[in-house]
Amino acid sequence: MEKITLHDKSFRICIPNEQIEESIRKVAEQINADYKDVECPLFLAVLNGSFMFAASLLKHINFECEISFVRLSSYCGTSSTGEVKQILGFNKSLEGRSVIVVEDIVDSGETMVEMNKTLLSANVKDARICTLLFKPDAYKKDLKIDYVAMNIPNDFIVGFGLDYDELGRQYKDIYVLDE
Ligand code: IMP
Ligand code: MG
Repeated sequence: MEKITLHDKSFRICIPNEQIEESIRKVAEQINADYKDVECPLFLAVLNGSFMFAASLLKHINFECEISFVRLSSYCGTSSTGEVKQILGFNKSLEGRSVIVVEDIVDSGETMVEMNKTLLSANVKDARICTLLFKPDAYKKDLKIDYVAMNIPNDFIVGFGLDYDELGRQYKDIYVLDE
């Protein structure tokens, strides 16, 4: 589908699935190389947005690992609210673990800064961030984003897990607001 309508807005295709999957394969290769000697890392995927990315990414991971899902959100409509809610869903101790956070998109960076604080206070051994999408022009923080599958302009996008007020997550391609 070239165009989709979600609520009151229309979107046009901007990143086809093949390109998304190829960028995920490349980022997985970097992670495979960096973690080959690390004891059972834990992937912590941030719901809801990262469910599709986590599924694609983990299929390429070739070392012993665990995956778990957490929930946390700061977004309402098409612009960041600037508020980050608490992180829910840690069901086991993170102490001493090497954690790789799996995120759909890093925008202002608020969410990842909050996540990083929470992980450090849970006494993880090491925490890194892996995001499908990064908006360099919107990023306002100093925290290092370790793995980026794709850099994108500061536009609002949906699909491949990302939503516009909860719609559009199921599409295999990524769409941008058609203005
Ligand atoms: P941040 O805290 O400003 O970095 O925002 C990160 C969160 O905002 C992501 O996990 C997404 O859920 C959401 N988000 C940021 N940009 C977009 C977008 O373009 N489309 C859909 N959701 C977005
Ligand atoms: Mg998210």
